[in-house]
Amino acid sequence: MSNYHIKGLEEYFQVYRKSVDNPTQFWEEIAEENFVWRKRWDNVLAWDKEDNRVKWFEGAQLNITENCIDRHLYIRPDKTAILFEPNNPQEPAQHITYKELHERVCKFANVLKDKGIQKGDRVCIYLPMIPELAISLLACARIGAIHSVVFAGFSATALSSRINDATCKMVITSDGSYRGAKTIDLKGIVDEALQDTPSIESVLVVKRIQSDITMQNGRDYWLQPLLDVASSDCPAEIMNAEDELFILYTSGSTGKPKGMVHTTAGYMIYAAYTFKNVFQYREQDVYWCSADIGWITGHSYIVYGPLVNGATTVLFEGVPTYPDWGRFWNIIEKHKVTQFYTAPTAIRALAKENLDYVEKYDLSSLKILGTVGEPINEEAWHWYNDNIGKKKSPIVDTWWQTETGGMMISPIPYATPTIPTFATLPLPGIQPVLMDEKGVELTGNQVEGRLAVKFPWPSMARTIWGNHQRYKDIYFSTYPGNYFTGDGALRDATGYYRITGRVDDVIIVSGHNLGTAPIEDAINEHQAVAESAIVGFPHNVKGNALYGYVILKETGEGRDHNNVRKEINQLITERIGPIAKLDKIQFTSGLPKTRSGKIMRRILRKIASGETEQLGDISTLLNPEVVEEVIKNVLV
Ligand code: WTA
Repeated sequence: MSNYHIKGLEEYFQVYRKSVDNPTQFWEEIAEENFVWRKRWDNVLAWDKEDNRVKWFEGAQLNITENCIDRHLYIRPDKTAILFEPNNPQEPAQHITYKELHERVCKFANVLKDKGIQKGDRVCIYLPMIPELAISLLACARIGAIHSVVFAGFSATALSSRINDATCKMVITSDGSYRGAKTIDLKGIVDEALQDTPSIESVLVVKRIQSDITMQNGRDYWLQPLLDVASSDCPAEIMNAEDELFILYTSGSTGKPKGMVHTTAGYMIYAAYTFKNVFQYREQDVYWCSADIGWITGHSYIVYGPLVNGATTVLFEGVPTYPDWGRFWNIIEKHKVTQFYTAPTAIRALAKENLDYVEKYDLSSLKILGTVGEPINEEAWHWYNDNIGKKKSPIVDTWWQTETGGMMISPIPYATPTIPTFATLPLPGIQPVLMDEKGVELTGNQVEGRLAVKFPWPSMARTIWGNHQRYKDIYFSTYPGNYFTGDGALRDATGYYRITGRVDDVIIVSGHNLGTAPIEDAINEHQAVAESAIVGFPHNVKGNALYGYVILKETGEGRDHNNVRKEINQLITERIGPIAKLDKIQFTSGLPKTRSGKIMRRILRKIASGETEQLGDISTLLNPEVVEEVIKNVLV
């Protein structure tokens, strides 16, 4: 029996039991047998339950890029590591071998050093899905710099607040990006963001769309000329197990985004272990995850997890709709993709279109399908299973979070029987618990509650950058001693988990987590707006869409409502990004509130979702009469 590669259901149960009975021995064996270390650890797990600090493999030394690249140079130097599929299908795909990846990462790392980046410095990466994105992560890791990738769909304001939060020294960006038939002026967004970012010393610019941009003398540098003269020899910085590898921001229920901090050894082990098992990766496979590297899914399952396992990982620059709705299936046929990992929102969008787009292509290479990011509805699951997997490729519905670093609850394909909408069973090392509202653990099966995790796992985020207290408050104060996920879940009669959705003020729109507070803040900046509240309502492609209730100031009442709607969405686009735009905006004279003045989002959510019959008792509200008005004017 191998702990590292589980092949059957019996084996899964045995391995799982071992991982719970003796977690440290379990992870120690995996660490010993499957990774390259510069120095062995002194201690597998140190867990300070009071201060919510964990350390995995303390005392060990390593560099994650030696695990992702160098060690493969002996056994698979000419194997494709990154298979780049450009936005334009006429542009040839690029096969970057492990040997070439090594050279490109080393050169890039030397450029970073040359520009003054040292171990521990933060580097912000704001790039489209091109090879330089993956390479820049690895180049940072090579020299021990901490990368902070910001999804290239975020606005200048969102970018600058993330740069300032982590006091980044450098931004890596490109002149622009391709997105289907459009181009986006990334450098322009960066220029705007850098108007108020005192920590930034330099900007590296990748040439991608050959657009005419301005370069600021002494700050901005084209990357290519620097690479041309850089040495391809760059010894890996020796890192401690708990040295920070990266920061990645995620939205919270309130206030500013949280910079989740992931550290080196534990993250590496867990990303690699889950990749191997959940995708049953084998040497000849071609694996494709369609997420963006700007999200955790891309960090763990486009870059680190696959590369540690010596895999071929597809990196796709474009969108599912360009040049037409068949693009994903075209790519699967073209590169003979064996594992395909995407989001329910993409599946729902593709399922709306004519099946001809799918049937034109030979999808017989596929062995395993995956989904992530939000609950998958039954209809989408069946469409995916019937038309893409042809009922022969198991679907792994993987539940996890930016904070967890890797997949937590997921079937192991060809071992765990799957049921639509169930993420099924916890992966080895993961001990989920369901809690009731009072914080009492719900034991046994057929229970529903809030999902928490009661024992540390190697890739859990260690802290929120610069604010450990906030980390403790958000994740560990609700159920002391347990990590609280913010999700609701049920456990069925067989012990399978089904995630029911967020129980806090985070709304998942097209797989993107959006906190209500920052959006409301953006709306409230509008000069005509007095107050606002955002809720989610069901949407057949996006999963949820955003519904805003807005109270106008007296001075704003005469304004044309459609103009105000446009201006509000413009403000949201500027402050956060187009992903946070509202689908519907209802103007109202008041918002239902509790007697202590708290907006009753639960009621607003029901009204926006058309569930006005189930509002419950509203008589205790401060202003029950408002509810009637809101219902009367609801937008359908
Ligand atoms: C949701 C993405 C149901 C969940 C890796 C979680 C899911 C949030 C699933 C984290 C799934 C993710 N089924 N819900 N398979 N996967 N979620 O941080 O609400 O972008 O808390 O990480 O997405 O989103 P994040």
